[in-house]
Amino acid sequence: MSLMNRRSFIAGTLSAAAAAGGAGDLGAQSASAQKDKYRVAIIGCGRMGQYYADVYKALPDTEIVAIAEWNDERRKVVGERYGVKALFKDVNALLKEVVPDLAAVITPSKFMKDAVIACAQAGVKGVSTDKPMAAKLSDADEMVDVCVKRKVVFAGGNLQRALPTVQEAARRLRTGVYGKLAGAAVHGFGGEISGGGCQHISVLRLLTRAEVAEVVAWGSPPEALAKDTDEGLIINGRFRMTSGLECQVFGTPTPARGVDVWTERALVRWDWGAPTIFEGTDAKGARKQIDAKYPPFAWSHIIEKAGLRPEDIYLVASIRSFIEAVRTGSELWISGADLRQALEVAIACRLSAQLGNLPVRLPLKDRSLVLFPRPYRWVGGDVTGRVQSAEEAAGRKKE
Ligand SMILES: NC(=O)c1ccc[n+]([C@@H]2O[C@H](COP(=O)([O-])OP(=O)(O)OC[C@H]3O[C@@H](n4cnc5c(N)ncnc54)[C@H](O)[C@@H]3O)[C@@H](O)[C@H]2O)c1
Repeated sequence: MSLMNRRSFIAGTLSAAAAAGGAGDLGAQSASAQKDKYRVAIIGCGRMGQYYADVYKALPDTEIVAIAEWNDERRKVVGERYGVKALFKDVNALLKEVVPDLAAVITPSKFMKDAVIACAQAGVKGVSTDKPMAAKLSDADEMVDVCVKRKVVFAGGNLQRALPTVQEAARRLRTGVYGKLAGAAVHGFGGEISGGGCQHISVLRLLTRAEVAEVVAWGSPPEALAKDTDEGLIINGRFRMTSGLECQVFGTPTPARGVDVWTERALVRWDWGAPTIFEGTDAKGARKQIDAKYPPFAWSHIIEKAGLRPEDIYLVASIRSFIEAVRTGSELWISGADLRQALEVAIACRLSAQLGNLPVRLPLKDRSLVLFPRPYRWVGGDVTGRVQSAEEAAGRKKE
């Protein structure tokens, strides 16, 4: 088969698989036929939790059966907004009364570990969380381990790695459509290398199909490097992947702000949103962007039904991949283990920079290492002075 034919064959096979209800459609064919809906609990129903609730409410095969929300006034309004009567202050009170099929833990990060573990131990089929999942590596380990031991699907959350177009680009790289991998770069790895940087690390690992094996990093400014939070820390450096691939790390935008992975003849650029693909060169010898021809995503209509923005499609995809993993055991598009790897890489970068750019190997031996996200992520809006009003929580006013 010629190269061009091989390429169009693979692209055609992928869209045919999506149309026929293959991996790409994430259960679209079976959802309408399903009689029993997945019973979902939302744990932590602030700004982000409400996005999840909007999606779960709009899906045909899920039903929100319970909410745990710490803030009394918000609990009441979100209950009314989503038509949920089983309302609880925290996860333990909820699990005493209801064991859902799926639990979405979207509390501030500080409370995620206890909630994920409580859900897994109570016997849910799947639990999801969001970013960052923890500050301490051993906490992230415990979350992953309990879910593995209890055979509970442990999903990540609203991360761009779950964009169908990112998954499709990764599939093409994996199947060799663009040739052999030759290099990678991370751009704009700074500001919050854990809280936001986990987006980069999750996409990099997916597109290269490899783990970060070694990190060499330089960190600035010195006052940010001395802190135990990721606030304001800019990391420049280099990753060596388990495949031997080298990855340059730029702390500030170049102006790209995402992840580049290039092959013998193509460049896949994830710069937030659908990756752009460059293949061949133009008359000046510069890289030429081609039409990526991404296949349609079977769940796109949920965006409008849930009242979300088109760019929020990765939350829908992340949730569909979670449901599909629970239903069929398929691979998650973003998992709790992915979030753990991202935290580990961020911690390794800070460590390497603090130790005078010493090469640091992963997995890290010291699992007691910690990197906190900024306070809003760690303890939430109510504690840090960005309180969500009852009016907004009721869905009547967008901030
Ligand atoms: N993936 C993304 O794009 C993205 C975007 C924003 C936030 N986040 C993450 O989502 C998490 C929540 O952020 P947010 O913007 O929704 O914050 P928020 O402050 O708006 O909401 C958090 C909610 O959790 C509730 N809560 C706190 N402790 C609780 C507990 N123990 N049990 C039950 N409920 C509890 C609070 O009352 C609040 O309503 C953070 O970890 C943040 O980093 C991710």
